[in-house]
Amino acid sequence: MRVIIAKDYDEMSLWAANYVAQRIIEANPTHEHPFKLGCPTGSSPLGLYRRLIELNKKGVLSFQNVVTFNMDEYVNLPVEHPESYHSFMWNNFFSHIDIKKENVHILDGNAPDLLAECAHYEEMIAQAGGIDLFMGGIGEDGHIAFNEPGSSLTSRTRIKTLTSNTIQANKRFFDNDETLVPKLALTVGVGTVMDAKEVLILCNGPKKARALHHMIDNGVNHMWTASMLQMHPHGTVVCDEDATAEMKLSTYQYFKDKQRLQGMLEQYLELYK
Ligand code: GLP
Repeated sequence: MRVIIAKDYDEMSLWAANYVAQRIIEANPTHEHPFKLGCPTGSSPLGLYRRLIELNKKGVLSFQNVVTFNMDEYVNLPVEHPESYHSFMWNNFFSHIDIKKENVHILDGNAPDLLAECAHYEEMIAQAGGIDLFMGGIGEDGHIAFNEPGSSLTSRTRIKTLTSNTIQANKRFFDNDETLVPKLALTVGVGTVMDAKEVLILCNGPKKARALHHMIDNGVNHMWTASMLQMHPHGTVVCDEDATAEMKLSTYQYFKDKQRLQGMLEQYLELYK
């Protein structure tokens, strides 16, 4: 696993956006061979999305031949609800780039048959030829997508019950009223994410420090589902300094030494000139 420690949220977002942009540009996607991008919601990727929008507007990066698959969606929350992940993605990303509507895939949490919806989602990913790069955030309890603690590390897309911790963490989006937070969600599985050719996880802020510690310092554990990234051949975590507060000093120093962040940032910043 590669760990990049950025100084703050902006630097983390910039690094991540440039990483994603490079991958898409290098793939030189076409209509016949699009780039398949896995997308998260949440506050962590907002800066990344802003930077990708910027690159798109500058004409450096096109999403014309990018197909997206979102990680998850609440169950029984109307699509038009401002906090649905459909709304989130269109408001914060898709409406601002040149992506084709038909290339966007988001789980339907209002489908009449939720199990069939999950199975169909997996089929669509398989038919597309798998995901090239899955971007993700991480929950305070170490979850990836909505794979809460105790999820099978080989799980596929399915319905999940949200934990109290996640409901508490997400109530900020629902007038701080936990009774308004949906209690169920559809989510890709840990196995679905791990099947992607590359996985990029963003982790920022002191509230994520415990999760990052368990994800990186300790072994793979189903109680910290993001730790499964250790098993991925091309897994990267980009975090900020605040998120490293509980990381072992030796781990921190090891990755700091390795990353040569400054040199890499300079190289990536070329795109913004
Ligand atoms: C939700 C999402 C996750 C996301 C997490 C963290 O639980 N299902 O995909 O990673 O929130 O969100 P935030 O980035 O807002 O901290």
